[in-house]
Amino acid sequence: MLLVSAPILGVPEKAALSKVIDSGWLTMGDRVRAFEEAFADMHGAEDCVAVSSCTAALHLILHALGIGPGDEVLVPSMTFVATANAVLYVGASPVFVDIESADVPLMSIVEAEARCTSRTKAVILVHFAGYLADREQWQKFARARGLHIIEDAAHAPGLKQVGTFGAAAAFSFYGNKNMTTAEGGAVIARDPDLRDRIRRARGHGMTTGTQQRLNSRTPQYDVTMLGFNYRMDELRAAIGLVQLQNLQEWNEIRRILVVLYRRLIANYCPAVTVPFSEPRTSAYHIMPILLPSLANRQDVVDHLRNEGIQTTIHYPPVHRMTFYRERFPGIELPVTDEFAQRELTIPLHPQITSPAVEAVVAALASALANCMQAETAA
Ligand SMILES: Cc1ncc(COP(=O)(O)O)c(C=O)c1O
Repeated sequence: MLLVSAPILGVPEKAALSKVIDSGWLTMGDRVRAFEEAFADMHGAEDCVAVSSCTAALHLILHALGIGPGDEVLVPSMTFVATANAVLYVGASPVFVDIESADVPLMSIVEAEARCTSRTKAVILVHFAGYLADREQWQKFARARGLHIIEDAAHAPGLKQVGTFGAAAAFSFYGNKNMTTAEGGAVIARDPDLRDRIRRARGHGMTTGTQQRLNSRTPQYDVTMLGFNYRMDELRAAIGLVQLQNLQEWNEIRRILVVLYRRLIANYCPAVTVPFSEPRTSAYHIMPILLPSLANRQDVVDHLRNEGIQTTIHYPPVHRMTFYRERFPGIELPVTDEFAQRELTIPLHPQITSPAVEAVVAALASALANCMQAETAA
């Protein structure tokens, strides 16, 4: 099966894991610190905080910004549910905002404006599929309303601009991401005070960690806030250090594959559109396409599956999920809904070859030809 995404793991990751096991120090040690420094450096940031997931990263950022009950946070619905969940974790309300268009499935600034109230405290921008939101426009928007910008950068590691939009950015190293630590995440926050609050909240609000106490003369510590256990361990950091060395090269391979996909789809599947038709900085996390409205998506999925090609959907909108529908009924996001009905994600990862891309597009063309024939016959 040609998978939508697949991690690249090999001998260097195994060797790095073995070294951690041999060292006998399993969590929050030198490797986590080295990973934080290397990840920050790649993004031109002074420092970063490694955590257990992007979900934890988003929670810690909202918590450290003091966002809580009575506050509202603008979020897209065209995202993974974690983006909105993190807002609920701090007791605030997510306010779902429509996307700009089917071509630019990023949060619409016009719609965001319409959903702002006196309770709005922050906006979470998701760099969907790795394509960056418009930094200057959002900064102007946030400045005018005194809002914090939080980046959900789960799809966009390795780009210098990420982490420079506003208060902080949250990254994911889950197994299907551009680089992985199995589970894992990081926060880039440029303000040292905010970063310090995030770092402390990551480990129960304790003033020192186990290794710091080992290295210092006093075994004492204090707890200065209600924190969490969102720590990263040494095994994950060791994998992360290896993966990080390849991230730029892998992102470049992704870019080349996307260029090829775009050319072949335009030639062989002209009824299919590919979002982000205008050039835009991207980490090319996934390859979303939009099927023609008349095509039966399930038939296309089945056809590709029979040819050994996996597809997925990014995303079933969050406001349509039972939990959110029951809690926030009556939300209308027509552009998000239309995009979600037609979207299909096809395989994209650095181990895919050009012939594999050609095979996916050929399978897509024949799936659509079948679909259209069935439609005409009906
Ligand atoms: C846009 C987005 N935000 C947040 C997350 C949550 O990441 P994690 O699984 O690391 O908590 C994901 C993961 O798929 C994601 O795609």
